[in-house]
Amino acid sequence: MSIREKALELLGTGETVSGADMARELNVSRNAVWKVMTSLRQNGYEIEAVPNRGYRLVSVPDRLSEAEIRRWLNTKELGCELEIHERLDSTNNRAKTLAAAGAKHGMTVIADSQTGGRGRMGRSFFSPEHSGIYMTVILKPAISPDKAGLLTSLAAVAAARAVEKVSGADVKIKWVNDLYAGGKKICGILSEAGLGMETGRLDWAVVGIGINTAKMVFPEELRETASSVGNETGTAPDRNRLIAEILNEMEELYGDLETGAFLTESRKRSNVIGREITVITAGKQFPARAVDIDEEGRLIVETGEGRTVLNSGEVSLKWVKEEQKP
Ligand code: BTN
Repeated sequence: MSIREKALELLGTGETVSGADMARELNVSRNAVWKVMTSLRQNGYEIEAVPNRGYRLVSVPDRLSEAEIRRWLNTKELGCELEIHERLDSTNNRAKTLAAAGAKHGMTVIADSQTGGRGRMGRSFFSPEHSGIYMTVILKPAISPDKAGLLTSLAAVAAARAVEKVSGADVKIKWVNDLYAGGKKICGILSEAGLGMETGRLDWAVVGIGINTAKMVFPEELRETASSVGNETGTAPDRNRLIAEILNEMEELYGDLETGAFLTESRKRSNVIGREITVITAGKQFPARAVDIDEEGRLIVETGEGRTVLNSGEVSLKWVKEEQKP
C-alpha cells in the first residue's frame, strides 16, 4: 500500500487526524504528510485542515481511482488486479483479450466511458463519461459450460445487493441480466466465455456489468425504459465504493456457484415470476406466463401448449406498459 493509500485509510473514518499521529502511523515527517495532503487535494479530495487538530476528509472526487476502490474492497481474489481506463471501446472486449492471454482470476477492467459498450442480442449499451459503472470481471470458474449461465445470475444478485447497500434503492432482477429500480432498467449484465476445446470446460469467463449511476437525462429512445440510481434515489452513489461492493458481493456468492444457492434471492428479487411476459428467442416472439427460475438459473414459462424452460433469450415486460396505461 502506498503512503497516499495509507493516508486515505487513516482519514477514511471522517474523524480529524492530527498531523503528528499521521506522521507516526505513516512513518514519515510532518512535512511529508503536508505534501501528501496537498497532492490529494490536487486530485479532487476535499481535505479540511482544522487548526491545532489536524486533517479531516470532507469529500472524495467522483473520479474512478484504484485507491478509492481499495478503501472499500475486502476480497481475496476479485479485484486483485484493477485496470482502470478513461475510455475503452468495451470493457468486455479488453477483458476477453486479457483472459485469452492468461490474466489472473479476479482481474477487473473498468472504464469511465465506453465508445462501443455492448449489450445482449447485439445491442449497444449507453456508456457516457462520469455517469456510470462499466466493469468486467475475469473469472476462471471450474464449472461445465452448461452451468455458465449461473454466472450472470450470480452477478445480478451481487450487483442488486451492492446497489441497494450504497443507495437504498429497491432493486429487482428482470431475468436474466437486467436490474430494475422504479420500474426502469438501471443495469445490464453481459457474460461471455472461452471454451477449452480439449477439456470441454470453460477456460475463462468475463462478466461485464454496466450501471447507470448519475442523475441524468437519457436520450429520447431510452427515456421510457431506462433510469439510473441517481434518478431513482435523488443522489448519485459513489462509483468507487459501488464497484468495490459489487466485487465484495460477487466474491461472497462465488463459493455457491456449484450449488446455485443465490438463485433463491434471484427468485425473491424477480419482477418477472408470476407475470404475463413476451418471450423473445431466436427469431420468435410469443406470450407466456413466467412461473419460476429452475436450479440452473433457467426461466420456466407456461404457454397455451404447456411448460417450456428458457436457457437464454430475452423476456419483455409488456405488463409494465399495460400497468402504466391510464
Ligand atoms: C444488456 O443490457 O444487454 C447488457 C449490458 C452490459 C453492459 C456492460 S458495461 C460493461 C461491459 N462492457 C460491455 O461492453 N458490456 C458490458
